[in-house]
Amino acid sequence: MKLDRNTLAVRDRDDPLAFARRRFHLPQGVIYLDGNSLGALPVAAHEVLAQSVGEEWGEGLIRSWNRAGWVTLARDIGRDIARLIGAHEDEVVVADSTSINLFKLIAGEVAAVHRSDSKRLAIVSERGNFPTDLYMAQGLAALGGGIELRLVEGDDIDAHFGADVACAMLTQVDYRSGRVLNMRTLNRAAAANGHRIVWDLSHSAGALSVQLNADGAELAVGCGYKYLNGGPGAPAYLYMARSLQRDFPMALSGWFGHTRPFAFDPTYAAHPGIERFQCGTPPILALRALQAGVATFDGVDLNAVRAKSLSLSDTFLALMSDHCAEFGFACISPTAHARRGSQLTFSHPEAWPIMQALIERGVIGDYREPNLMRFGFTPLYLSHTDVWDAVMILNEVMLSGAWKAPRHRARTTVT
Ligand SMILES: Cc1ncc(COP(=O)(O)O)c(C=O)c1O
Repeated sequence: MKLDRNTLAVRDRDDPLAFARRRFHLPQGVIYLDGNSLGALPVAAHEVLAQSVGEEWGEGLIRSWNRAGWVTLARDIGRDIARLIGAHEDEVVVADSTSINLFKLIAGEVAAVHRSDSKRLAIVSERGNFPTDLYMAQGLAALGGGIELRLVEGDDIDAHFGADVACAMLTQVDYRSGRVLNMRTLNRAAAANGHRIVWDLSHSAGALSVQLNADGAELAVGCGYKYLNGGPGAPAYLYMARSLQRDFPMALSGWFGHTRPFAFDPTYAAHPGIERFQCGTPPILALRALQAGVATFDGVDLNAVRAKSLSLSDTFLALMSDHCAEFGFACISPTAHARRGSQLTFSHPEAWPIMQALIERGVIGDYREPNLMRFGFTPLYLSHTDVWDAVMILNEVMLSGAWKAPRHRARTTVT
């Protein structure tokens, strides 16, 4: 039986996460299906930032490093993020970007592993991994010493784990297709081969129930501006299991990772805890925005987030089949729940102009090469009726041929 809007309105009425939508500013007339790329603005961010600029910076000046808690803010937010990714409070710190945090982990891990077993110099990753991850590993390999980035394809990634591998570097939810990797199984396979996996959680934290400790993950990084709603270019985070922290080599040994930064000692002495993985002075205003973003998860059950995410994407799939089947869209995302993240990706030869026509009508998704339209489902602020309205607008764009207008062919820098 075909779904109708009333049935979906009933689902929204019974939605246990409906309260969270009020925590966001969503522009009138917009259905936002791109929270997997840049999360929406938390309402509280206005006030938090105004207060941080006006009082902490304006009035408090440099005193705010101590009085307003600036000096521990990266740790404090790390503690809040830890709850979202199944980690202990002292295992997460906010710092730098995902790319830089990834470099810290792969550089340190390869150095440590290679020191105890000189055969291990390969970093295994997927050819389709997010390019910045691959670029960072290429940059590390280019420094020399025999480090090699080994790119693999296909589902049996663990077949490439082995005695010459220093670490694997995997993204739990693929940015293109939204495919989910089984973290527990892969961590076990890596451990059986004597190495670890550095996980990128950019498309999973805040969308799935990530369980780093329970699933045996020891090293991970992730992004602050997607499902965590931290704002454009928000700082990223780094996770390291307690047992590794004390001896892990930190290549980017900046003064905020020193055990006593204000001793101004000319010799680096690493902080024994997760603080070590900060590098330079943290960006306080950006951290305040990220704190407001992470606070949108206060009181939110991540199992409910996952259940709603799947319900929203199931709804989108069903409506695409009911109302857009004749237009030539092919879903490249896995349909099995265990393999599906919080987005759906459709291939279409005219993906670019169709997406531009949708955006013009307020349905905001995005475009990725080659010819892919991505639709992200953020359970904190999307409803089932939003999904209905989005698919009806897509149907109208296709039936009317509105996407054929020449202006929709113009390319922009950010897609
Ligand atoms: C999987 C993944 N890793 C990393 C990044 C970006 O990293 P950075 O915070 O360094 O820009 C993205 C951005 O979309 C991503 O999807």
